[in-house]
Amino acid sequence: MKFYSFIFLRFLCSVVCTHTEVYSLSFDGVTLLSLQEHWDSVPPSISTSWNHSDSTPCSWVGIGCDKNSHNVLSLNLSGYGISGQIGPEIGHLKRLQTLDLSSNSFFGSLPQELSNCSLLESLTLDYNTLSGEIPRNLAEFKDFKLV
Ligand SMILES: *[C@@H]1O[C@H](CO)[C@@H](O)[C@H](O)[C@H]1NC(C)=O
Ligand SMILES: *[C@@H]1O[C@H](CO)[C@@H](O)[C@H](O)[C@H]1NC(C)=O
Ligand SMILES: *[C@@H]1O[C@H](CO)[C@@H](O)[C@H](O)[C@H]1NC(C)=O
Repeated sequence: MKFYSFIFLRFLCSVVCTHTEVYSLSFDGVTLLSLQEHWDSVPPSISTSWNHSDSTPCSWVGIGCDKNSHNVLSLNLSGYGISGQIGPEIGHLKRLQTLDLSSNSFFGSLPQELSNCSLLESLTLDYNTLSGEIPRNLAEFKDFKLV
């Protein structure tokens, strides 16, 4: 009986412990990788730099972080040739101040979850084919054309 529970625990650890390792990446990093899953084409400059083995996304292309907390403050993917949608996970980047996704092929509607990024100061989305409404609390931003 004891032997079997040992085997079982070993099995459980091989599942859980490996997973823990994968998710040593910070919450903001995991969020960025979930955003990436909504893209049909990811340029190699991003897919090689956005490495899930890192502990923070602060060294990734397009990312700016707070030096102490390692929270993501800016996401600038202007002109990377990304095609895809902006996922609702964007709302998890609670500290985001700057978002520049201009000159890509983002399509679909702008997720309402963007309104959760309450610290956003600069939003640049022009030269994409986005549609829909801009979340009301963000409508004061001038520098976007949705089409
Ligand atoms: C990601 O980082 C790990 C550990 O630093 C490294 O071994 C691996 O080659 C990296 N992957 C890519 C795609 O750069
Ligand atoms: C984003 O990066 C581009 C290219 O490096 C730069 O021209 C642009 O000013 C940046 N956007 C913001 C909001 O800083
Ligand atoms: C956005 O904020 C609402 C209310 O605080 C919360 O219920 C929701 O889970 C948040 N969504 C995201 C994507 O952070």
